[in-house]
Amino acid sequence: MRKADILLGLQWGDEGKGKMVDFLTPKYDIIARFQGGPNAGHTLEFEGQKYVLRSIPSGIFQGGKINLIGNGVVLDPVLFRKEAEELAQSGHQLHDCLYISKKAHLILPTHRLLDQANEAAKGKAKIGTTGKGIGPTYTDKISRNGLRVGDILDRFEEKYALAHQRHMEMIYSLNEAAVAKGGTPVSLDGLESLEQEWMQAIDYLRQFHLIDSEHFVNKALAQDQTILCEGAQGSLLDVDFGSYPFVTSSNTICAGACTGLGIAPSRIGEVYGIFKAYCTRVGSGPFPTELFDETGKKIRDIGHEYGAVTGRERRCGWIDLVALRYTIMLNGVTQLLMMKSDVLDTFPVIKACTAYRINGELTRDFPFSIDENVEPVYEELPGWQTDLTHCTKQEELPQAFINYVNFLERELNTPIKIISVGPDREATIWRE
Ligand code: GDP
Ligand code: IMO
Ligand code: MG
Repeated sequence: MRKADILLGLQWGDEGKGKMVDFLTPKYDIIARFQGGPNAGHTLEFEGQKYVLRSIPSGIFQGGKINLIGNGVVLDPVLFRKEAEELAQSGHQLHDCLYISKKAHLILPTHRLLDQANEAAKGKAKIGTTGKGIGPTYTDKISRNGLRVGDILDRFEEKYALAHQRHMEMIYSLNEAAVAKGGTPVSLDGLESLEQEWMQAIDYLRQFHLIDSEHFVNKALAQDQTILCEGAQGSLLDVDFGSYPFVTSSNTICAGACTGLGIAPSRIGEVYGIFKAYCTRVGSGPFPTELFDETGKKIRDIGHEYGAVTGRERRCGWIDLVALRYTIMLNGVTQLLMMKSDVLDTFPVIKACTAYRINGELTRDFPFSIDENVEPVYEELPGWQTDLTHCTKQEELPQAFINYVNFLERELNTPIKIISVGPDREATIWRE
């Protein structure tokens, strides 16, 4: 029986998962998203075109592949419809190549309102979510109140009415609490028309292959088909191991592929861990190597570090090897993919955080909390100060850059197999 491979982000998301899933797709028969929802924004560039995918897997552009939205994903029918219709307009019809798990949970319009209300209730301690209703939808899943894609096939109106009623009671009570504290209640204006649009999108969703995806993937493996599982977000946003509570609401680590697709741990093969040559984060929460100076601004400008979903500025900083060692461990990463190397082309000195100093003590292990007591300890390496975007093979890479890659491999004890030197599919170099 075949094993499924997994590609996932090792930092706080936006590492370049979309680009690399698309790049690796020719090696696979099936590409499967296993968690997250439209909080993801996966960018792909090829042949002068740029696409941002949110719920749809990044394997749709290579032709002849099955793309699966797994049971671990939360799906907003309205955003899904928008995404699928835009792709159809650009010539990418999905009806034949996209399958959706009946066990994937649905994001309701009221989940988005609850996301807003929860954030408002947290005040200054807000997570800075993408506002897509992710947290409340996973909360309903775990509290056993969720609606699933398979539910739309039978007496759905009844199930929806119950969920709507429950959510409205929650929103009223959160709004009351907000007003009592002098805050702003969440507006219910336009909810009715949002719900109409949502119901129409449910009809649209019914036109797709809605399947028992756990059977599908296991039969595919038994028939020697190859599967690449596509992660969303990053391991430092994992609900168990990330910088809690400033995390997303799913397991973004490789275990999420097992639960999010129904693949047993013994059936996992390669784990591709993807990271940027530096580090970014969107939303609130601790970030030990964050730069607040001109260097941080320069990384943001050169790397175009603005959110693919919300357009928010991404916070930028140096690479954090303490955090990367931790996420490599959690995921059992077998090979690393290093992204956005070209963004550091003009820097005379590159810094890498190799340890943390916490209350005077040095540690190389990721601690319980990465709060303000964590002081990063840096090693400095000479920059390569060469334009990497023209490099097409390993032999063309400058020595100072190779030294940086070798240094990272030693620190992380894992081979770096792919180097990305630009957003385009072609700007990718295999290493022997
Ligand atoms: P994802 O969420 O992990 O798929 O990543 P995003 O798409 O949110 O963010 C990655 C951004 O970096 C996108 O705009 C990509 O087009 C871009 N990108 C990917 N790889 C490279 C690279 O090697 N160099 C540069 N300069 N940009 C890259
Ligand atoms: P991709 O797949 C970067 C962040 C949000 C927020 C926190 C919780 O493109 O890498 P949520 O809406 O999930 O409840 O927000 O997680 N976040 C991401 N940051 N990339 C993502 O996805 C993200 N998805 C969520 O900014 O801090
Ligand atoms: Mg992204």
